[in-house]
Amino acid sequence: MYGRRTGTPAVAPVLTGLAGWLPSAVVTNDDLAARFATTDAWIRSRTGIARRHVAKPGEATSDLAVEAGRRALVSAGTGSADTVIVATTTPDRSCPATAPVVAGRLGLVEAAAFDVGAVCTGFVYGLATAAGLIAAGVAERVLLIGADTYSTIVDPQDRANAVIFGDGAGAVVLRAGDPGEPGAVGHFDLGSDGTQEELIMVAAGGSRQPFTATDTSRQDLHFSMRGKEVYREAVTHLTASARNTLRHAGLKADEIDHFVPHQANLRILRSVSDELGLPPERLRSNIESVGNTGAASIPLALADAAARRIVQPGERVLLSAFGGGLTWGSCLVDWPELAPTPHPYEGGEEPTP
Ligand code: UT7
Repeated sequence: MYGRRTGTPAVAPVLTGLAGWLPSAVVTNDDLAARFATTDAWIRSRTGIARRHVAKPGEATSDLAVEAGRRALVSAGTGSADTVIVATTTPDRSCPATAPVVAGRLGLVEAAAFDVGAVCTGFVYGLATAAGLIAAGVAERVLLIGADTYSTIVDPQDRANAVIFGDGAGAVVLRAGDPGEPGAVGHFDLGSDGTQEELIMVAAGGSRQPFTATDTSRQDLHFSMRGKEVYREAVTHLTASARNTLRHAGLKADEIDHFVPHQANLRILRSVSDELGLPPERLRSNIESVGNTGAASIPLALADAAARRIVQPGERVLLSAFGGGLTWGSCLVDWPELAPTPHPYEGGEEPTP
């Protein structure tokens, strides 16, 4: 059932810092066309993607998460957080969680630290988790990082998935504040449908199908996605969840200044915007230059828009995510004044608008 989980808490998470980080190596569509039977034209027209950043061999999710987290803390004007949450589908290891490792490397050894696993919806689930901890008085300042290295789980020869996914990390700092103040995040809608688990999965390596060198085929360790069905489900749930959040907030679609969905596929994002009745210019997308970066995609798209100064203080931003599980979720952010956000590309290089 949609729209059950909402409420207006007395204390809300308030956005005070934002940053992204991308690994330096870039894989273009032409690079992929040299690897298997595809073309730049096919990939651009079916997905809107031109290139994606990928981690170097040995570069793990925590390496990207630490850089994004460090930059977000600088953006927030602080070096500290009492809670570190990492949303990821590609943790460094199955045990322990990645967040304590990230917290330790950021010098936050006393912080509570744990991972959130909701695949590409992880960042929105992480925001809701941070909201709950803050509302309960358990956390005061949360560093939430969405980070994924899909290149470590996608079969490099899988032409359906290798064209879509990229690696990256995006992070926000949230402090306890007032639900009415600039930066407040709220009006969450969250949901899942576990009966459709098989649409997006890594079959082996968990307790259902433990990895053993003898009885597990290599393919089972790779990410799999039934693209066509996922496409339809993504449009349905992103639209329904975004509508629920608007309804909770008592807003109409034309009162949204920026729609920042999970960057799954440009055609999906355009369909959802159309369904919502949003003018196309309010859709924010950076998928052309980064691909689908999983749990990192929303904060990376926000960091990109902030670095380009497209999102302005006082504007209303709608976030909507969808991913494996299936899972989905949406929320609203009243955009605050933030310190200038360096662009998430390596070295903070200025984007070309
Ligand atoms: O982040 C989690 C959420 N993920 C998503 O939302 C992704 C959702 N799915 C998609 O974005 C799309 O389904 C894909 C991009 C994965 C695929 O696009 P599509 O338009 O659904 O293509 P398709 O799977 O229906 O394939 C159409 C044709 C097929 O050939 P035939 O059978 O028609 O002869 C494929 O074999 O395109 C072929 N094809 C390719 N051709 C060139 C599939 N991948 C490629 C490729 N290059 N990379």
